[in-house]
Amino acid sequence: MKIVSLVGARPQFVKEALINEEVRKSSAWEHVLVHSGQHYDMNMSDVFFSELGIPAPQYHLGIGSGSHAHGTATALMKMEEVLLKEKPDGLIIYGDTNTTLAGALAAVKIGIPIIHVEAGIRQLPLSMPEEINRRLTDHSAMVSQGMLCCCSQTAADNLRKEGIVERVFVVGDVMYDLFLRAQKTFGIEAALKKFGVCESGFIVATIHRDFNVDFVDILHPLLSGIKAIAKTNGLSVLFPLHPRTRKMMKQFGLMDVFAETELTEPMGYHELMSLVGASAFVVTDSGGLQKEAYYAGKRAIVVMPDTGWREISDSGWNILVRPTEESLREAGERIARECSYPGSLYGDGDAARNIVRAIRSTFGKGPVA
Ligand code: UD1
Repeated sequence: MKIVSLVGARPQFVKEALINEEVRKSSAWEHVLVHSGQHYDMNMSDVFFSELGIPAPQYHLGIGSGSHAHGTATALMKMEEVLLKEKPDGLIIYGDTNTTLAGALAAVKIGIPIIHVEAGIRQLPLSMPEEINRRLTDHSAMVSQGMLCCCSQTAADNLRKEGIVERVFVVGDVMYDLFLRAQKTFGIEAALKKFGVCESGFIVATIHRDFNVDFVDILHPLLSGIKAIAKTNGLSVLFPLHPRTRKMMKQFGLMDVFAETELTEPMGYHELMSLVGASAFVVTDSGGLQKEAYYAGKRAIVVMPDTGWREISDSGWNILVRPTEESLREAGERIARECSYPGSLYGDGDAARNIVRAIRSTFGKGPVA
């Protein structure tokens, strides 16, 4: 059996790492890895491959920066060529990026079953690029007679509401698997020293969504709000800057909202997780980081109108806020209050194994021993 995996953006490298390892460990199938090139800077891509021990991709599509249509269409055309050449039994795609959608469209049109990892996540607004990608990908996976691998029952229920009931597997979250495993090797002391912060004395902040960073009248109060939360709670900020956020902050003249020492380059997985674990709390608009904060036992203020990870925010652990200084200040006060940990929401840390098993049994090769 041959399976192709397609990755392209930071969160997908993290997810592929464990699936790839599980496949190699169990010799479950011949695995071909494709990188779309959606993320291409050293600290947005290469660092994850070396740090997480992911083998070099056999194909690199080199799509680079551009509009949504440009990135998706380029990856779609190039991915079709790869799939026609490799003729795999299935294509694994992750999450909700333009790379994900390109893979889904390429595969469904030529009859290759799609295995969608992180299926069934739903989030408003419907017009959010990632939400468009999620819905089209899940429905393509269904039409392709593929598999929909969900992190939780909530995600499976979301699919059911849209009529997707066949080949839906609740497997847990691969990011939780990785977190549990990597936790033992986090270098907390070294990370604190490198950034000159002390345990529980700082906030980790990351903001990169187009709807938060592309407009000055949103980005400015948002950044001031983060600064205000830090001040009220007597904390400093560590803000790893996504390239898009750096570009927009420069363009809008907002670099001086933070001290120079508070702004950092994007971080690798271990360093970021070490700092999250040692932080007071997290402020983010990242789907992955709001979940990783929860895995690390830290709360997150999530600057989004809605979240796909509703279980965490419904429990009151993570707090959703609008990008205004007032909302952020108010969340900054709430987050200092006690809140009980919601317990295990996304599996037991064996999602990668569950996915590999499910693929083996679905495609007729029997479960992995
Ligand atoms: C993408 C995903 C988002 C995910 C995020 C993780 C889509 C629609 N969005 O958003 O769901 O949360 O990845 O980071 O696919 N850039 C660089 N170097 C890089 C990568 C990006 O300079 O290595 C800059 C470019 O100007 C690029 C911009 O960042 O145009 C945005 O990158 P893009 O991949 O389009 O979207 P993200 O915001 O990273």
